[in-house]
Amino acid sequence: MAVERTLSIIKPDAVAKNVIGEIYSRFESNGLKIIAARMLHLSQADAEGFYAVHRNRPFFNDLVKFMISGPVMIQVLEGEDAIRKNRELMGATDPKQAGKGTIRADFADSIDANAVHGSDAVETAAVEIAYYFPEFNIYSR
Ligand code: PPS
Repeated sequence: MAVERTLSIIKPDAVAKNVIGEIYSRFESNGLKIIAARMLHLSQADAEGFYAVHRNRPFFNDLVKFMISGPVMIQVLEGEDAIRKNRELMGATDPKQAGKGTIRADFADSIDANAVHGSDAVETAAVEIAYYFPEFNIYSR
């Protein structure tokens, strides 16, 4: 199976709940290595740029407002099948639909405040990683 990289964001709700370590531990115990990380309080321009593909969706403004409501923890995860594995650990977008034991089932309150983001494909992962990390800030093997 291919070794991949994916972008993960621990969103303001989960940072406020003080569960960064708990979420990191789930990544690590499932074969995902944290190879870059930074805590940031996003500006409106940062969040709008990151979610630009969703700009015509009805929830866009609420999503941006939520993502700038407090600091986020952003990391690059590396491992076999990392994109799918991370999304499996995250659970469904709506925590009410998320499987038992997933990050969203355990820590998210609603579809608007759903604890984590994870890239959904190889191409989007590359774009999202480059949005926050220059290659020289990524520490892989
Ligand atoms: S996904 O995870 O990309 O497949 O889900 P999608 O449904 O396409 O949603 C894209 C991002 O928008 C967030 N989202 C919402 N935010 C606020 N309110 C509502 N109703 C809502 N629905 C979806 C969703 O969490 C996705 O954000 P990220 O950061 O990618 O998880």
